[in-house]
Amino acid sequence: MTIINDRLLKALRLEPVDRPPVWLMRQAGRYLPEYLQVRAEAGSFMDLCRNAELASEVAMQPLRRYPLDASILFSDILTIPDAMGLGLQFVSGEGPVFERPVKTLRDIEKLPSPDVHDELGYVMDVVRAMRVKIGQDLPIIGFSGSPWTLACYMLEGQGTRDFATARSWLWRAPQALQQLLDKLVITVTDYLAAQAEAGVDVLMLFDTWGGLLSEAHYRKFSLQPMANIIAQLKSRHGCSLPVILFSKGCHTQIDEMLKSGCAGLGVDWRISIDAALRQAGGRVAVQGNLDPTALLAEPAAIRQIATEQFAAAVSQPGFIFNLGHGIMPQVPPDNVSCLLDTVHALSARQ
Ligand code: CP3
Repeated sequence: MTIINDRLLKALRLEPVDRPPVWLMRQAGRYLPEYLQVRAEAGSFMDLCRNAELASEVAMQPLRRYPLDASILFSDILTIPDAMGLGLQFVSGEGPVFERPVKTLRDIEKLPSPDVHDELGYVMDVVRAMRVKIGQDLPIIGFSGSPWTLACYMLEGQGTRDFATARSWLWRAPQALQQLLDKLVITVTDYLAAQAEAGVDVLMLFDTWGGLLSEAHYRKFSLQPMANIIAQLKSRHGCSLPVILFSKGCHTQIDEMLKSGCAGLGVDWRISIDAALRQAGGRVAVQGNLDPTALLAEPAAIRQIATEQFAAAVSQPGFIFNLGHGIMPQVPPDNVSCLLDTVHALSARQ
C-alpha cells in the first residue's frame, strides 16, 4: 500500500520533493493540554503506552493541530529493558526509574532475551491502532532506543546528569558491557522488525547518550551496535525500511555514521544544518536541527530562526525539517503553530 503524503519517504530516498517534510520529535506529549487529559484518563504514562486506543489517540493529537508530514509511534524507548524484567516506573518529577537495574556481570548473563511479540505485543497493537486512524495518509515512524542508550539507563537505574555508573563499565568491564550490548542488538532488531510487520514505514534509532562517549568509544559501543542492527534487519528479517540514526551530540562522527547503512541522520543544533547536509553529501538524508529551546522565544524570533534554518537547507536533497531534540513540556502550543506556519509559508514561496 502506498502512503499518500510520501514526502518523508521521498526525502529518505533523496528524491525531489515539492517541499521538505516536517515533523517534530516528541510531537505528542506534555506540552499539549489534550495529552495531559488522556494521560490522566489512562492512569500513568506506562498505562497509556499499554492502551492501544488511548496511545493511538495521543499520537493523533499533534496531527489534528498542525500540518505535519509524519506520525510517530506513541511509546517509549524504555519498553525493552522493562520487558527484560528491570521493572520500569515513571516517578513524577524524576523521570524513569528501574526497580532492578543491572549491577553485575551475572545480572547481564541472566537477562532474558524477550519474545517481542509476547512481551512487547502491546506496542505492535498501538502501531495497528494508529494505522486504522491514520489510514494511508501519512507515514508512521517506529523506533527503538540504541543499545548504548538503553544500556545507560539499565546500568544507571535512572536518568542522571552524566551517567557515570554506566560509563564506568567502559573502563571496568568493557567485555561485560559488550555482552550487554550484543544482547540488546538482538532484541532491538527483533523489536524493530516486529514494528515493521505491524505496519510502520520508517524506523528510527534514538541514541540520546552517544554524545557522552569519546570518539573511539562511540564507534565501538554505540555506532557499531546500531550498524549491526541495520544489517541484521535486512539479513535476519528481510526488512528494508529506511532507518534514521539519531546520535545526539555526535556531529563530529558524521563520516563514520555514513558507513552504518542508515538512510537518514538526525543531527542536533551543535552543527549548522547546511554543514551537516554538506557532509552527508547527498548520500543520506539529514533531519534536524533547531534547538528546542527556540520554541520558548517570542513568535517574531521563532519566525526568524525558522527562516534562517530553512534558507540554509532547503536547496539540498534529503532535508527533513525537525528539532535537534524533543519538544519541551513547557513550550506553548501556539509557538509550535508559529514555527510550522513559518516553514509552510516559506515552502509555498519556493
Ligand atoms: O512523540 C514522540 O516523539 C513519540 C513518543 C516518544 C516518547 N519517548 C514519549 C514519552 C519517544 C520517541 C520517546 C523516546 C525517548 N524516551 C527517548 C529518546 C529521545 C529523547 O528524548 O532523548 C528517551 C531518552 C526516553 C526516556 C524517557 N521517557 C525519559 C527520560 C522520560 C522522562 C522525561 C522526559 O524526557 O520526558 C520519558 C517519558 C516520556 N516519554 C514522556 C513521553 C510523552 C512523558 C511522560 C509523561 O507523560 O509524564
